[in-house]
Amino acid sequence: MMLMRLNMRVILAALCGGVLLITIYWSRCGDFTHRPIGSGPGSAASSGSQRGEDLECIINGEYSVWCRRHRDEVLVPFSFIRKYFEVYGKLTSVDGVEKFEWSHSYGKVYHPKKKYDPRGTFTTFENYNVEVRDRVKCISGVEGVPVSTQWEPRGYFYPTQVAQFGLAHYSKNLTEPEPRVTVLDDGDEHAPGWTCSQDATMTREYDSELKAKVMEFRTSEQAPSQVWLSVNISQDFVVSVDLLLKPNSSMMIVLQNKDKKETVYLHYVTSTQLIYAQDDHIYYGIGVEQKWRRLTRDLIIDMQKGWALLDRPKRKSPKNKFMVSGVAVRGAGRVGHLRVSGSEHMAQFFAAATWLLRAQAERGGWPIPARRRVAPRLSPLAPGWYSAMSQGHGISVLSRAYHRSGDAAYLRAARRALRPLDAPPLKALWMDRYVWYEEYPTKPPLFVLNGFIYTLLGLYDLHVIEGENSISPAKKMFDEGMVSLKALLPLFDTGSGSFYDLRHFTLGVSPNIARWDYHATHVNQLYLLAGLDPDPILINTARRWQGYMQGKRAAHN
Ligand SMILES: *[C@@H]1O[C@H](CO)[C@@H](O)[C@H](O)[C@H]1NC(C)=O
Ligand SMILES: *[C@@H]1O[C@H](CO)[C@@H](O)[C@H](O)[C@H]1NC(C)=O
Ligand SMILES: *[C@@H]1O[C@H](CO)[C@@H](O)[C@H](O)[C@H]1NC(C)=O
Repeated sequence: MMLMRLNMRVILAALCGGVLLITIYWSRCGDFTHRPIGSGPGSAASSGSQRGEDLECIINGEYSVWCRRHRDEVLVPFSFIRKYFEVYGKLTSVDGVEKFEWSHSYGKVYHPKKKYDPRGTFTTFENYNVEVRDRVKCISGVEGVPVSTQWEPRGYFYPTQVAQFGLAHYSKNLTEPEPRVTVLDDGDEHAPGWTCSQDATMTREYDSELKAKVMEFRTSEQAPSQVWLSVNISQDFVVSVDLLLKPNSSMMIVLQNKDKKETVYLHYVTSTQLIYAQDDHIYYGIGVEQKWRRLTRDLIIDMQKGWALLDRPKRKSPKNKFMVSGVAVRGAGRVGHLRVSGSEHMAQFFAAATWLLRAQAERGGWPIPARRRVAPRLSPLAPGWYSAMSQGHGISVLSRAYHRSGDAAYLRAARRALRPLDAPPLKALWMDRYVWYEEYPTKPPLFVLNGFIYTLLGLYDLHVIEGENSISPAKKMFDEGMVSLKALLPLFDTGSGSFYDLRHFTLGVSPNIARWDYHATHVNQLYLLAGLDPDPILINTARRWQGYMQGKRAAHN
């Protein structure tokens, strides 16, 4: 340990003296690899007195890397430093002046601007984009919520992810500017130029259920027969439409590359198949029920998920390259309220809330249908397991849905969700004393920190939203959890970062250190809680842990 510190000091001192030279050297050592001791300089290291002399640098007596001697400095390649110390650096250029930017971590800390409020944004989730994650297969055409492939490649609804999708959109609704909306067809004022091809018909009808005028269409079996609307919309890509479709009917939306070289066809079809794709045609099943449905689709996401299915490479900012160029319907049915906007955050939020209502088991849990192997040596969680974090996130969504809509069904569901939390295995005890809500209810428990704090937020949300009418044990459960958190927080401190969980204690295995984004989550969560509870342990820990992200360490003896 002593030796390593010494090494680090030498290297850091050398680096401070030679940042400029490192930047020159940088391009030559991009693929630096370890070499056995005494094997001579690699081809990348050419000699030259201005850049110093080659110097073999022996690492812990185990292997060597080629460095440079420049006067009294030793310059060590950053590619080696980066791997050895797990730090981050990149060449940047400001006004034509190149610099080298070194950072100790990649996490991001957000200081809350005001006290956390369950009616407001959920922590910093306005920065989350759940649907773009690779482990999201696509957004279901029937449910309007993400389908996860994490832990189960066939795809399933992961309650934590569905809730995060909802909370992100709720938070974006509160922080983003008002979206632009282009109405394409609202029956009356905007009666646009739908055109019918080959044996297709369209009429305007009053729909008594929708209480609005709608477009009724019928096309023939022949493939090109369709009712078509030409549009020209760039920048906005979220479509919202009311559809009542007969079997074997579909709506197609055409996206065109602005240079007209590429066309992508998104089909929303009466089918229960989740997604399939062929060439430039991507199909989403929207269910087979013959009733009015409101379809809200982010076309860019739908296009990207189709490409992923076709194994096409990811592309940068397709928003700037594509435009919506047409809408077509086939089969038979009715279309109302067709519009394209920059976002439809509340529709997406309520899709998540509605899913949570429907998917909740009678005893209040959201079963997770994927087998989850949490840690080596532990038996995996069998499909159907519950997670305290899912329960907490679910409660956070439902509390906000109740607040926005006033619909008591959401409140009842949130209260029901407390039940599984308040009993083993989701409720674990630390040393027979401190209550902990388990993100992964393993045996023995793991005491995952971030999932526990998210659960506490769910409890807090419900307690505040219930207000005067509080009849649930949410407050008591929250208070108990806070007592545990303050008691156990020091156990998560590594002196230079934080532990993700306490498996080194409960399983007797080596510790599980939180990677920087989880560490940053811990810090953000603690800053948030420090706004709710004045106990100095919260704010002091948050500050100390934030320091770790800039390379500060606890003092040693
Ligand atoms: C947020 O939701 C409200 C209510 O649905 C809506 O009127 C508003 O346009 C939305 N704003 C954004 C930015 O999504
Ligand atoms: C779309 O509209 C823009 C101007 O708003 C125009 O320059 C462009 O040519 C139009 N594209 C098509 C395909 O009509
Ligand atoms: C839908 O299409 C399939 C195959 O194209 C056909 O077998 C079926 O009869 C059609 N259903 C209806 C209700 O038109």
